[in-house]
Amino acid sequence: MKRIQHADSMRSWAEEQRSLHKTIGFVPTMGALHAGHLSLADAAVRDNDLGVASIFVNPTQFSPHEDFNQYPRPLEKDLAKLEAAGIAAVYMPTVVAMYPRDYSTYVNVDNVSEGLCGGSRPHFFRGVATVVTKLFNAVKPHRAYFGQKDAQQCAVIKRMVRDLDMGIEIVEMPIVREPDGLAMSSRNAYLTSEDRKRALCLSRALFDAEKKLKKGERDGEVLMRGIRDTMRDVEIDYVALVDAETMQPVRETIRPVVLAVAAFLPTARLIDNIKFDPNTDDAGSQRGSGR
Ligand code: PAJ
Repeated sequence: MKRIQHADSMRSWAEEQRSLHKTIGFVPTMGALHAGHLSLADAAVRDNDLGVASIFVNPTQFSPHEDFNQYPRPLEKDLAKLEAAGIAAVYMPTVVAMYPRDYSTYVNVDNVSEGLCGGSRPHFFRGVATVVTKLFNAVKPHRAYFGQKDAQQCAVIKRMVRDLDMGIEIVEMPIVREPDGLAMSSRNAYLTSEDRKRALCLSRALFDAEKKLKKGERDGEVLMRGIRDTMRDVEIDYVALVDAETMQPVRETIRPVVLAVAAFLPTARLIDNIKFDPNTDDAGSQRGSGR
């Protein structure tokens, strides 16, 4: 597996592969890899000639009071996992190379970035859209893989790729969960065992709502009231029913929707969601291997 640090070297490698008619599947990450990330890597390797991953903890998507410095960075373990997954090259740029002192250019995706996580983390999607654009420019992928775990991030990236004519296929992969239902996240490592138990109310609330949706409940208020009730032991950031494409709030489930939740636990902010398409009755929340 090749380790590449500089954007120029990354781009030359990608251009060479493209000239040999190899397809590139790309998985952007911030490292601290778990089975959720690796499901993306597996898909990228399986569905393309070459799988490329990036590891970069991106400062522009963290607010000053957030966990940028504390974010786990188990680099050698991450590299071993990516190599085992069959990834051909890992791009790991440095912060100073990505954002030199006079860095000036940002990508803003209006509307889709507003509300939900954009409400409580105002700089977040500008940072994500900017870094993903830079990573795409270096890696030059044909396809890029993102997790439904960050449903709004997926919607933002899809809109950005469409609006800016990037010509990259965005593949959204199902949420990988722990056997008890908790959505896997690098930040779960921050949880005390007590909070780990309390964190289960997020997925429990969503699965209850999913059952109601499957039984025909379409009223957003009823669904969200049930969720808030189940999440009463944690500090709720938001509970929202939104259109799956636009991320704008909806009252009723007529088109494909996302039911999304976020909560503050003492040591971590957690998010989770389910997707539901009333036309196919196909609930998009994929359960973990143990379910
Ligand atoms: P990170 O949190 O490391 O996540 C990298 C990718 O893994 C994202 O697409 C995320 O949705 C996906 N992922 C995380 N947990 C998952 C789970 N339980 N099941 C399936 N997929 C999961 O998201 C980021 O990094 C950054 O914002 C990034 C896109 C790299 C830009 O900096």
